[in-house]
Amino acid sequence: MQSGEKTRKMFQRALDCMPSGVTSNYRYWGDDKSLVLKKGEGAYIWDQDDNQYIDYRLGFGPVILGHAYPAVLEKVKEAMSIGNVYAMTHEYEIKAAEKIKKMTGVDLVRYANSGTEATMHAIRIARAYTGRDKIIKFEGHYHGFHDAVLWSTFPPLTSVGYRRAPVKVPQGSGMPQSLGNLVHIVPFNDEELLENKVKANWGDIACIIMEPIMGNCASVMPKKGYLEFVRKLCDEYGIVLIFDEVKTGFRIAKGGAQEYFGVRSDLATYAKALGNGFPIAAIGGKKEVMGDIGFLKIPHGGTYAGNVVATAAACATLDELEAGALDKVSAHGIRLMNGFSQVLSDRGVPGFVQGPPAMPAIVLTEEAGVFDYRDVAASNHAIYEQVIWKLFAKGVMPDSGVHEPWFISASHTDADADKAIEAFDEAVMEVLC
Ligand SMILES: Cc1ncc(COP(=O)(O)O)c(C=O)c1O
Repeated sequence: MQSGEKTRKMFQRALDCMPSGVTSNYRYWGDDKSLVLKKGEGAYIWDQDDNQYIDYRLGFGPVILGHAYPAVLEKVKEAMSIGNVYAMTHEYEIKAAEKIKKMTGVDLVRYANSGTEATMHAIRIARAYTGRDKIIKFEGHYHGFHDAVLWSTFPPLTSVGYRRAPVKVPQGSGMPQSLGNLVHIVPFNDEELLENKVKANWGDIACIIMEPIMGNCASVMPKKGYLEFVRKLCDEYGIVLIFDEVKTGFRIAKGGAQEYFGVRSDLATYAKALGNGFPIAAIGGKKEVMGDIGFLKIPHGGTYAGNVVATAAACATLDELEAGALDKVSAHGIRLMNGFSQVLSDRGVPGFVQGPPAMPAIVLTEEAGVFDYRDVAASNHAIYEQVIWKLFAKGVMPDSGVHEPWFISASHTDADADKAIEAFDEAVMEVLC
C-alpha cells in the first residue's frame, strides 16, 4: 500500500479516539493499512498524502452519481437555507416519496436514515401484518447492524455446519441467543431447502427477507425462476416478502430488483443510491401491508427520518437517475466486466466476472459458477485480495474483500475503466504469473 506518512499519522490519531480507528468495523484494514481520506470528487478520492484513486467502493455503494455531484449539492444548499429538521411533513419529503413510488411501483413510502433502520422497520411491519414473530433469512445476506438480522452474515466456513441444516452464527458478541431463536437460516438459491423450512414452520413465519442479488457476497445472482419461486411460497403461506434493496435499489435499474427481475415484493428497503450518499433510507411497499402504520397500531418513526436535507438530496438524485444517469453506470460496468473477463482468459486465471453491470464482482475459482455464500467463501480469497492490494498501489480502489462488488457511478469515464482494466492485468501478472 502506498499511503504515506500523513495518512499513517492521522490514522494513529483515529486509533487514539475511536475503537480500531473507524466508525464502522468494515472500514478497518489494519493499523498500518487503513486509509484516512481527504476528499472525493466525481469518480475519484484522495488520501491524506494526496494519492488519488479511482473510487470503485463509492462508500459501499451510495455514490451512484459521483462524489460532490453538483446537481445534488445545489439542491442540498437550497434546502439547507430553509432549515434542515422540522420533524413535521414538508414538500421535499412528499416530492421524493412521489418519485420513489413512480420509479419502483410501491404504493406507500416511509423514511429512515440508514439501511439498518429500514430493514428493522420492515421486519416489524411484517410481524405486525402477519401476527407472527419469526423470520427467514439467507446465509451470507446482510441487512445491517441490528440484532434481528446479524446472524450468519459472514460466518467462517468452519462454523456453518451442514448445508441442509446451517448453524446459525452470530456476527460476534453481544447478540442475544433469544433473538437468534426468532431467525431461520437457509442457503440462497435452493428451492427445496427453503420450501422444507417454510412447510415445517410457516405458522410462525412473518417474513422472508432477502437481497434479491447477493450484494454483500460477490453479487451472486438468483437462479432463473428462484425469485418467482420465493414469491409463490410467500403467497401460499401468507408470508411477507421483503426485498432488501439497499444495494440494488436505484442502482441496477430505476425500479431496482423488482423491475430488473419483474418480481414484486410486499415490502422493499432502500438506502444507499437513494440520496447519492446523504443519509436517507426508505421502506416502500404494498398499501395492504403498510397502510396500517400509525399511532397505536404499527410503530415507526425517528426525529431525523425524512429530514429536509436528505429528502432534497433524494429529489435531486432521483431526477438525475430518471434522466438517464443509470445508462452511463451500466455502460461503464459492461466495459469493465468485458475487460476483466478478457484479462482472466488471456492470463489463464480460473474465475469469472458476474453480477449486474452496476455492481459487478470478480470471483477466482475453478468452479463453473457460484450460487450461494459457501461457494463464494470457498473461492480463492487470498489471491483476490493480493490482486486488489496491488490495484490500490496503482490508484484503483475497489473494496479489499471478495464479498463487496465493484460499484460504478455515472462520473466514471471510459478512460477510468481502461485504466482499471490495465491495472488489473498488471496486478494479476504480478501476483500469478
Ligand atoms: C443489503 C443491505 N442491507 C442493509 C444494509 C445496512 O445499511 P446501512 O449501512 O445504511 O445501515 C446494507 C449495507 O451495506 C446492505 O448492503
